[in-house]
Formats: sequence, C-alpha cells, structure tokens
Amino acid sequence: MKIKFVDLAAQNLEIAERVGFELDLIHSNTSYVGGHQVESFEREFADFLGVKRVIGVANGTDAIRIALLALGVGPGDEVVTVPMTFIATAASIVQTGARPRFVDIDPATGNMSIPALRSFLESLSRNERRAVRAIVPVHLYGLPAPMVELKEIAAEFKLKLVEDACQAHGARVRTADGMAMAGTLGDAGCFSFYPGKNLGAWGDGGAVATNDDEVARRVSLLSNHGRLSHYAHELCGYNSRLDSIQAAVLRAKLEKLAEWNERRRVIASAYRELLAPMDVHPILPPDGIESCFHLFVVRSPRRDAIRNALLQNDIECGIHYPVPLHLQPALAYLGYRPGDFPASEALADTTLSLPMHPHLNGMEILRTVETVASALLPANERVSAQRSNASQLDTASPDA
Ligand SMILES: Cc1ncc(COP(=O)(O)O)c(C=O)c1O
Repeated sequence: MKIKFVDLAAQNLEIAERVGFELDLIHSNTSYVGGHQVESFEREFADFLGVKRVIGVANGTDAIRIALLALGVGPGDEVVTVPMTFIATAASIVQTGARPRFVDIDPATGNMSIPALRSFLESLSRNERRAVRAIVPVHLYGLPAPMVELKEIAAEFKLKLVEDACQAHGARVRTADGMAMAGTLGDAGCFSFYPGKNLGAWGDGGAVATNDDEVARRVSLLSNHGRLSHYAHELCGYNSRLDSIQAAVLRAKLEKLAEWNERRRVIASAYRELLAPMDVHPILPPDGIESCFHLFVVRSPRRDAIRNALLQNDIECGIHYPVPLHLQPALAYLGYRPGDFPASEALADTTLSLPMHPHLNGMEILRTVETVASALLPANERVSAQRSNASQLDTASPDA
C-alpha cells in the first residue's frame, strides 16, 4: 500500500458536508468573486491569527508581491531574503522591480541566520544601505524564523519586514507579549493556500495579514484593480482576488486547522522518537518556537539512498529544495556562485521530507521509519536482513 506524502482526500471527507452546504449557497447566490464567503473567511482567518486585517488574494506569490508593493518597494530597491526556499519568495521580489539579496540560513533551523543578516547589512556602505528596503524571512517547513530578533534588526536598520508565511499556517513564536502566530509580527504576513498547504484550498489562493490599516487598504486596492468603488480606480492595480469557492473550502478547513496541526505535532514527536537512534537529523523547533510541521524534514549525508529506499517501498517523499535559489538559472543574473551560501547548499544536498499530514497513521509512520533504518544499514547487513526477510516469507508461505 502506498504511503502518501499528503492526503487531501482524507481532509475532504472531514469537510464534505460543510463545504457542500456553502457551495449550494454560492450557486444559488451566483456570487463567485468576493462577497459573503470571502469577507467571512478574511474575518475568521484574522481572528484565528489574532491580527487586525486579512485580505484574500489569488495566491501566495501575489501575497508577497502585493505586500511589498503596498509597503512602497519597487524598481531600484533591494530586498533581503534567503536562498533556501521556493522560487516564489524571490520571484515575487523580482516582480516588484526590486533586486533580491540573499543571506545564508542557520543550519539548525533552515531559516534566515541572524548573524549572517547583521553582517550583510553592516558590510554595506551608507549608499548601498539606502537601496535595501525590506527583509523577507521565510518560515521554512512551517518552523517560524526568529521574528523577535528580525523585528529588532528591521527597526535598527529602518527596514520593512514581510513574512513569507506560505508554509506556516498556525505556527507560533514566543514574544514578550506571549505566543504570537507566524505571519502577524512583521509589517505584513503572506500566506499561500495552495492545496497541499496546512490550510489549502481546492485551487490557488493566498492572503496578506497585517495590523496596519494603511497597508491593508493598499493591499485591497492593489489586488482589486485599484478600485475605490465599482468604476472608480485610485491606481492601476492587479486582478488578484480570492474567489468564493476557495473561500468556502478555506472556511471549512480553518475550523479543523488547530486540530490538524496538533496531529502533525504528535506525528512529528513520534518520528523524532523513533528516528533518535539513527544517523538522521530532523529539523526541530528551538525553544520558544512552535512549528506547524508543514513538512517533517530530516538531514542525512545518505539522503539519496534513503529516498531511493522509500520510493522503492511505495513511500512518497520529497526534497525541499534540491537547488538553492542563488544557483537557479532564473536568478543567474544576480551573479552569485556555488559556495556563496554554504549552509543553504549543505541543506539542499542533505534534506529529505518524509510523509507528513494529519491523517498519517501509526503503521505508516512505523513503515516509513523502518525503511529509513534499512537504508542506513551497512551494505553487508542490508543483504543479510533481506535474506532473513525472504526466508521468513518462505516459511510463512503455504506449500504449493
Ligand atoms: C515558501 C513559499 N513561498 C511562496 C510560495 C508561493 O505560494 P503560491 O504557490 O500560492 O503562489 C510558496 C508555495 O509553495 C512557498 O512554499
């Protein structure tokens, strides 16, 4: 039996009735873009996050691009981010007309390194520093970046802080005022609702969260044709809206999100315990950080052998991400070279994402861990383990 990397069908079973009811309403009202579903979702997600405003947009990439534009980032500006992320983090910066500048990650968490960020900013001349307008940390794999320290640096260097929270729905960070949700601590937090996310739609979707009314106003304008009213436009904006069907699905899944995230945390603890004796190194949240385990990631120099063993045993797994962004052809014009960001390159070479979703069961976790263990056995032990498995099968099979 295949072990799935994510199981959207199992999620759908839990929300089918609720979504069916809302879809009937949408069809009878024929209100497909904006309207009650979208407004309700925006309010409900804002309540869940504990943030003043949420504005739905078409996808996570647009959420980052539009948040940066709303904060005044544009051509001639530079935006600092990390190379170990999905291409959309940098692509959205490029789409504003700004230039991405990379700093390396902390090898323990995969997130932006505070010492690397500080030394990058301090290495710039006064003129160079003026071009840098914003920092975009990524909460990689659902594990929040060190937001308290990032806020201090952003304030010190007068930079905007836009969180790429596209993998971090419901992850939390300890602050002086208690635990706060990822995506609510910067000037804006950007979410993707791509189907496989912890909170995923039945298509594309995204949102910007902010406590700043003016940023919210500009994000609303930019994402909806610069509209003040139906045919009055303050600026030439974009068509980047969340539609009613996605909003209805998101409302139903939002009711389950806390419970589903809790199940992910339980699964992560089980993986952690079972993998502890082995030579694989999970990425785990440091003190004061609560991951939502969008992915459960281990690092191993024998990553490819483990991956092959999993795939051969019908266990889906992934590599997030095999090539850091500074080595992607799309960003070659930035002029970076292999070796520029050693921690990102090391993670790309060793990272492996094991199956992780709220409906993964105990047998599936055990089978996955046993397969990892078998791939790590020395070659001679592997052969004798295979022989002993085969002879057990022989003994168990009835005579023909
Ligand atoms: C870290 C990160 N940033 C940005 C995005 C972009 O989101 P979307 O695919 O909704 O545009 C994603 C989605 O995969 C992501 O994982």
